Amino acid sequence: MQGFIVCVLVLYFISPCLCIRFNVRTTSDTTYNVMQYGATGDGKSDDTKAFSSAWSNACKAEGKTTLVIPSGKSFLVKKVDFIGPCNAEILIQFEGKIVAPSKDAWEARPYLIEIDSVNGLTIDGNNVGEIDGNGATWWDCSDCKRPGVFHFHKCDKLNVSNLAISNSPRSHVSVNECNGATISKISIDAPDSSPNTDGIDVSDSINILIQDSNIKSGDDCIAINGGTSFLDAKRITCGPGHGISVGSLGKDGASDQVSNIYVQNCTFKETTNGARIKTFPGGSGYAKNITYEQIILENVKNPIIIDQEYNNYLQETSVSVSSVTFRGFSGTYTGKVAINLDCKNDASVICKNAHGKATDTIPNVPCLSN
Ligand SMILES: *[C@@H]1O[C@H](CO)[C@@H](O)[C@H](O)[C@H]1NC(C)=O
Ligand SMILES: *[C@@H]1O[C@H](CO)[C@@H](O)[C@H](O)[C@H]1NC(C)=O
Ligand SMILES: *[C@@H]1O[C@H](CO)[C@@H](O)[C@H](O)[C@H]1NC(C)=O
Repeated sequence: MQGFIVCVLVLYFISPCLCIRFNVRTTSDTTYNVMQYGATGDGKSDDTKAFSSAWSNACKAEGKTTLVIPSGKSFLVKKVDFIGPCNAEILIQFEGKIVAPSKDAWEARPYLIEIDSVNGLTIDGNNVGEIDGNGATWWDCSDCKRPGVFHFHKCDKLNVSNLAISNSPRSHVSVNECNGATISKISIDAPDSSPNTDGIDVSDSINILIQDSNIKSGDDCIAINGGTSFLDAKRITCGPGHGISVGSLGKDGASDQVSNIYVQNCTFKETTNGARIKTFPGGSGYAKNITYEQIILENVKNPIIIDQEYNNYLQETSVSVSSVTFRGFSGTYTGKVAINLDCKNDASVICKNAHGKATDTIPNVPCLSN
């Protein structure tokens, strides 16, 4: 008799628990898992279609939705287009691995993953999410138009964190025309010898924070390009790589503007450059109010470099560089020059009532009238 009563009590206490669990499952219809849309996750079959249907459903739903790329699985995708605008505010729970196809199987396009016009997007890799760009199949092809891996265009209030990205054919992450992006706890890894494999490229964007990340690459760890202002980079470890660079600005006569850049508490390990500002002669615009502060150098070749003769051909105009601060640098360097400020002075040629012709002069004399 006693035994029977215990049995009934146990059932009574267990059953409400089952009910609660069941309810949680059925109400989680705001989650869109790529596996439910036919992804195989075997790293071999093309899962492109599953990604795009999961995305379009997550994007057109209302409220907050989560796109799940589950952990423990590997997804071969030929292209991923996550295009907005979306009704929903989306979290991508990026816990699996995306693998790029080898060079022969890439679609002819500039990036593997393109995220366009999606505002308020959060991507959280939860320290297990990973993208492998399969770049080794591209690097030795010098006349190929090598693609980048992860591209954000017109994504305001973007938040990308806890993700590892490796071996891109070209840039790993690029941010263009975004207002307000936080990129944190990202690890980027490509070999020293891999060509043009920038870590993070930013252009035409404002209010960008890049922090607590580790970047190893064959080119710039971070490249701050034209049209960027209010960018903070904090606690970045860079190396190998070419440093954290402003520019190149003014390429092919372009007018580029970069301002209000603050790089602090960064460590450069065995990089070719540390803090670099590079402008092409022949361009116009400006790079101003740029601060590099609390920088640790470990065997850096050129710790501080302003290079206004980048690619060194003679031109009359240049991007103006002003209000630049380098503060609190310490550590070791291996090159010949620790601080190299190669600035161009536009006023070095003055023509006042001057007529005639100048050929093959250094600097060029564009102001003579005939
Ligand atoms: C970005 O997302 C991460 C992970 O979801 C979160 O911890 C962090 O607070 C978010 N940052 C911002 C600025 O919203
Ligand atoms: C310089 O940039 C910082 C942000 O890095 C900003 O807070 C400051 O106001 C700017 N200074 C000027 C004079 O524009
Ligand atoms: C930068 O480092 C200094 C000295 O270690 C520390 O006091 C400061 O809080 C750090 N700032 C940031 C933004 O990490």
